[in-house]
Amino acid sequence: MTRLGALLTRLPLALLASAMLAGAAAAAEADPASEDPAARGAYILHAAGCATCHTDVANGGAFLAGGRMLSSPWGAIVAPNITPDAETGIGGWSDEDFVRALSEGRSPAGRTYYPAFPYTAYTHMRREDMLDLKAYLDTVEPVRAPNRPHALRFPFSVRLFLHPWRWLFFERGPDRPDPGADERVARGRYLVEALGHCAECHTPRNMLGATKRARHMAGSRYGPGGLSVPNITPDVETGIGAWSELDLVFFLRTGFTPAGDDVQGEMREAIDDGLRHLTQADLEAIAAYLKSLPAIRNRVSSTGAAAAPAAGSFGGDW
Ligand code: HEC
Ligand code: HEC
Repeated sequence: MTRLGALLTRLPLALLASAMLAGAAAAAEADPASEDPAARGAYILHAAGCATCHTDVANGGAFLAGGRMLSSPWGAIVAPNITPDAETGIGGWSDEDFVRALSEGRSPAGRTYYPAFPYTAYTHMRREDMLDLKAYLDTVEPVRAPNRPHALRFPFSVRLFLHPWRWLFFERGPDRPDPGADERVARGRYLVEALGHCAECHTPRNMLGATKRARHMAGSRYGPGGLSVPNITPDVETGIGAWSELDLVFFLRTGFTPAGDDVQGEMREAIDDGLRHLTQADLEAIAAYLKSLPAIRNRVSSTGAAAAPAAGSFGGDW
């Protein structure tokens, strides 16, 4: 090989190495098949949509530094800082602290979290995936941003109120997969139920703010922020029964429905912050799982805001 040839073959490697050094301070790139736990964790972050709630994009907040106000049936809740800042974030947390938060909804000090943090879904996450996620979060830029207090209505403002709620509605994972399901549907179920927490928005809630199991994914007139959320069961008339699996994959990648509508609001965020970064195989698995759900007839007006029930009234269909 000529010297020039040798130089040319080494040059890309040298450039790559310097790019890696320059990028050393940046967080890991998502890759579900990587040897690096942080890269796998970055992929889990996309699939689980953590950044949407924990980044206050509208007010120019830093990545994962919290501060976003979330409306919930309990009142307004502020998402905390989950960057590895030791004082104001979760920098001092051990792996076990992190696993306990996601799987039990408890803080290192034993405080109970509000289910606005969807640990009711994450409790079904595999422990390896939680640890990969923690490895990734450790690589994120630490940001000093003290947590702001929630603005919850009484009695929800009293954390003790959560104990009977949890007793009634919280079942700790890990999930027991359906042994009859094929591998793709089982993967889709994991992505939808444990990671994507789609039911948090797409399932109506009862008067205590818990999702109604019998109406799983059948849509809600009073979703987050009082906006309606469509039925995504395979009912042909009122759900997504007329969508092909390809339509669903295309939608999850781009936000365009088969009718050519460009999705808005919280679903747009779920796609842009996470879903569109998933592998083709994973999006196909999500589509296959949604198509395997029982079809439920439930017409939800898909446009505009429905008038939310008066504060504190908790009319039957949250
Ligand atoms: C739907 C919004 C939402 C999503 C999605 C979400 N969180 Fe949260 N998270 C919250 C809220 C709200 C709290 C605060 C709960 C409380 O104070 O009781 C919280 C609390 C936490 C805490 C506790 C922080 C502390 O200081 O005690 C951790 C850790 C956390 N979330 C990590 C995650 C991770 C990791 C993901 C993705 C797997 C995630 N969250 C996804 C809303 C969300
Ligand atoms: C934070 C709330 C939220 C979460 C989480 C969420 N969605 Fe949505 N989704 C919405 C809203 C709101 C719309 C309607 C948006 C619009 O009409 O512009 C929607 C629309 C959709 C649609 C289009 C349905 C139609 O008839 O137009 C599909 C399909 C969908 N979501 C699937 C999912 C899947 C799969 C997940 C989980 C991986 C998920 N969503 C998670 C709020 C959410």
